[in-house]
Amino acid sequence: MKLFIDTADLDEIRDLASTGLVDGVTTNPSHIAKTGSELFTRLREICEAVSGPVSAEVTATDHERIVAEGRKLASIADTIVVKTPLTPEGLRACHALSREGIPVNVTLCFSPAQALLAAKAGARYISPFIGRLDDIGHDGLHTLSEIMQVMEAQPSLDSEILAASVRHPTHVTEAAKLGTEVATVPPPVLRQLTEHPLTDRGLAKFLADWQRTGQTILDDERETG
Ligand code: E4P
Repeated sequence: MKLFIDTADLDEIRDLASTGLVDGVTTNPSHIAKTGSELFTRLREICEAVSGPVSAEVTATDHERIVAEGRKLASIADTIVVKTPLTPEGLRACHALSREGIPVNVTLCFSPAQALLAAKAGARYISPFIGRLDDIGHDGLHTLSEIMQVMEAQPSLDSEILAASVRHPTHVTEAAKLGTEVATVPPPVLRQLTEHPLTDRGLAKFLADWQRTGQTILDDERETG
């Protein structure tokens, strides 16, 4: 499963991209608003910081303007993926942009029926928002599993399912178990994925025992490269 990071915070993106664990980035208008940055400048900076796909969201709601915005966003870099909303107008624009060879991430997906239509419209990625379903008392992972079932039963549909609105590590591991192709995670959740108290405790014990031996693996500072 590919891991994208869900943020427009450039420092976070640069830091996490340097770990080699990040396959791409997803942004949305709320992320851009939070950073206070100019949209095109920030998207260019993100595309320079990561080599993988960078989702950039349109803000128009009628298909003609969505297509025009999508073309403009796509001109920023070859790695831009245009995010269109899962509305009738958004799907129509997805179809048009996809036919032009511009990859589309259909966002704000909350049901298997919506996912089916997005796939038929030619979406490269479809983003079910699992956390927001949980927020209203639904079961986001159950909806995700139904979407995966639909995609598996329909091999002619080749969209990748991108688990979005991820709130915690269990969302990520359950999405992986379901065969979801991508999960986009907020930076704190990506860091949480590495953490376990037994890892910390185990490492502290190994280091304490090692220190008692008086040995070192590297002879001096020069060997650290
Ligand atoms: C990703 O593409 C979405 O914009 C994002 O995951 C939404 O997450 P939220 O529900 O935490 O805002």
